[in-house]
Amino acid sequence: MSNAETASEASGAISADRFVEIKLDEIIPNNVDLSSDKQLLRALETWRPNYLDWWNVMGPEGYQGAEVYLRTAVGVDPSGWAKFGHVKMPDYRWGVLLAPKVEGRKIPFGRHKGVPAWQEVPGEYRATLRRLLVVQGDTEPASVEQQRYLGATAPSLYDMRNLFQVNVEEGRHLWAIVYLLVKYFGKDGREEAQALLERRSGEADNPRILGAFNERTPDWLSFFMFTYFTDRDGKMQLAALAESGFDPLSRTCRFMLTEEAHHMFVGETGVQRTIEATCAAMAKAGIKHPEDVEAVRRLGVVDLPLLQRKANFHISVTRDLFGGEISSNAAEAFSAGLKGRFNEARLEDDHVLTEATYPVQRVVDGKIVEEQVPALRAINARLLDDYIADCQGGVDRWNKVIEKAGIAFRLAQPHKGFNRRIGEFAGQRISPAGEVLTEDQWQARSGAWLPNDDDMRFIDSLMKPCHERGKYASWIAPPRVGINNQPGDFEYVRIY
Ligand SMILES: [Fe+2]
Ligand SMILES: [Fe+2]
Repeated sequence: MSNAETASEASGAISADRFVEIKLDEIIPNNVDLSSDKQLLRALETWRPNYLDWWNVMGPEGYQGAEVYLRTAVGVDPSGWAKFGHVKMPDYRWGVLLAPKVEGRKIPFGRHKGVPAWQEVPGEYRATLRRLLVVQGDTEPASVEQQRYLGATAPSLYDMRNLFQVNVEEGRHLWAIVYLLVKYFGKDGREEAQALLERRSGEADNPRILGAFNERTPDWLSFFMFTYFTDRDGKMQLAALAESGFDPLSRTCRFMLTEEAHHMFVGETGVQRTIEATCAAMAKAGIKHPEDVEAVRRLGVVDLPLLQRKANFHISVTRDLFGGEISSNAAEAFSAGLKGRFNEARLEDDHVLTEATYPVQRVVDGKIVEEQVPALRAINARLLDDYIADCQGGVDRWNKVIEKAGIAFRLAQPHKGFNRRIGEFAGQRISPAGEVLTEDQWQARSGAWLPNDDDMRFIDSLMKPCHERGKYASWIAPPRVGINNQPGDFEYVRIY
């Protein structure tokens, strides 16, 4: 060591190596020792410019230069994971953050139950695990693409900020999965990481992998329904993967879940504020009957029956994301210890499921019946049921708002079989109430259950931007509290 270096260390200055480390950790906040893992660093350095290209082309249209009041995760402890400040989205610091390692963690389920959790990918499960990662990873950039035009019609700066927060965090979720791919899957993983930037939502030649992620999110009501119902599918999938015997995946998903909660908050409060505006406008105009649709629409708010139809659409499309209720792939992922059930640790059974059964609904001879199926083959059915139960809380809270306003109307989740394309109910016609219908009956009645062209035109007519500080579009009530307790007229987005 030279005298100069000794002198600088003594004065508290930092060495060149340490400087590089700090710089890097500033650009890519991480708790995976990125600066000392040269191979990982090289892979991410190669991928990062391609990611930024993708973000600039496919991320939020028209607002890349705006300064947005965003939350950035720079660490996983309570002090580090929610730093707020105005940033331009392309400068957002997308990081690689894993929940802390649980010492002595054991695989909680499946045929390897009780053995120490894997820190490396088990060779025999390499292909299955890679596929699980790619399918989950693909949904993250897909939703950013689906939502990319919404900034222009934001009903307030508050909502615009929430949209962009969700978008940058879905970007970070992509980083989280890409980290696992390039760290643990070598050349294959690097190719998959690149392919995640190349598929495009809704594109015929190279679409995103799952159906719901190729649908459009054309308006803000769709966005709120999507973040309440479809991000909740993300929550359920992440929760099941957080149980994984592959420990890096478990830790990655556990941290992603903390961010996911905000996305569902945006959805739940977005729908709730829409309902509040509707109820207030109806009360003011003296309209008692929710079915007075024309009168309600003239007030510039969304009628409640239309909200139900929108919910029906997003709920049914999202349920298809769970895959077939009966699935040998899901059985294998469970037995292999790769993907567990929701709240696996809290379930009181043997966690191996060789003997257990689970009730699954299906149509037999024109009737919906419940049959006991080997529980292992019904892993998806169970996750779907858990999802449906998890959705109900918000629906109940929405109904409270309607009830308090004295309007006789209740929102409800449609029957599990309604409007399904995948699984036990694919090819069947089931009403929201759970009646099995003929094709003719369906054609005659389904217009009342799913949004029609008129509905979508009406929603579209409401989508006028409201980008003035502290102001909100007619169809949505202001939030009760600001983000990070900011005042009502806070400039959440500085548009230049
Ligand atoms: Fe996500
Ligand atoms: Fe999300």
